[in-house]
Amino acid sequence: MEVSNLVKHYGKVEAVRGVSFAVDEGSCFGLLGPNGAGKTTTIEMMEGILAPTSGTVLFRGEPVGHRFREKVGIQFQNTALPEFITVRETLELFRSFYPSPRSLDEVISLCSLEDILGRDNRKLSGGQRQRMLLGIALVPKPEMLFLDEPTTGLDPQARRNFWDLIEGVKREGTTILLTTHYMDEAEALCDRIAIVDQGKIMEMDEPERLLSKHFSGQIVRLPVQEAGAEAERILAELGAEETAGHWDIASLALDETMQRLLQARLNLDGLSIHRPDLEDLFIKLTGSSLRS
Ligand SMILES: Nc1ncnc2c1ncn2[C@@H]1O[C@H](COP(=O)(O)OP(=O)(O)O)[C@@H](O)[C@H]1O
Ligand SMILES: [Mg+2]
Repeated sequence: MEVSNLVKHYGKVEAVRGVSFAVDEGSCFGLLGPNGAGKTTTIEMMEGILAPTSGTVLFRGEPVGHRFREKVGIQFQNTALPEFITVRETLELFRSFYPSPRSLDEVISLCSLEDILGRDNRKLSGGQRQRMLLGIALVPKPEMLFLDEPTTGLDPQARRNFWDLIEGVKREGTTILLTTHYMDEAEALCDRIAIVDQGKIMEMDEPERLLSKHFSGQIVRLPVQEAGAEAERILAELGAEETAGHWDIASLALDETMQRLLQARLNLDGLSIHRPDLEDLFIKLTGSSLRS
């Protein structure tokens, strides 16, 4: 799929401000960004549900139109389900909309739905509901699967279970476009990601390459505190950057960095050291946290 110079305005709101990227066949592409970044607006233009203000979306070189709809599976950010019917009945309902749907058994095993087939839709937990919605999206045997924040609000165990299902779908060769505001999810599932903020792509590449492009070594993080002139000088020398109540210091040699901090007579309570991840990159690019 190829997206070029995509723009969407809602009145005065510039939700998407010119994004371009390509999704390779069989890969998982992630749009990673905070609430309001324009992820849903972008994905819905790709799905052919929302008309762009300008720009183009091509699937195998053709504009997305009627035929495209038969080749895609969509899991929306919010979905209302029919009430008073069971998971099995819901899957049968959606299967009835397609000329040659996937078999019920296959959907059940792909999404681990065995245990909840007889359950009323209203009685599903968050994780069970997302599994069933994935099942519905997979009914048409899609070439392209769209997942809009599929794990938001799930507990950590349910999120990991969902990731396992996505891995299974990837192994089938399905192309996936995923949006998320969880950097660990993007890192775990996506072959390439675009970091989006305020309707624009800040950076785009394979997660590992993005990290090695922007960081080397490790990050020493220290709570911001009163610092005298000498400490200020050392912090400046170490290249400390203040974000969200911390100083972050990129360190290539931990022993040296620690010695300098001791010399600065800073209070080291609450100090932590970690390898940079996509969250750090987001902060570096935008100056704010993904979770804020
Ligand atoms: N139908 C709409 N009318 C007006 N503004 C909208 C509409 N849908 C989204 N927006 C605005 O567009 C921006 C991007 O929203 P959205 O694409 O939903 O972001 P995300 O999915 O990344 O949270 C936000 O500022 C949001 O308030
Ligand atoms: Mg959204």
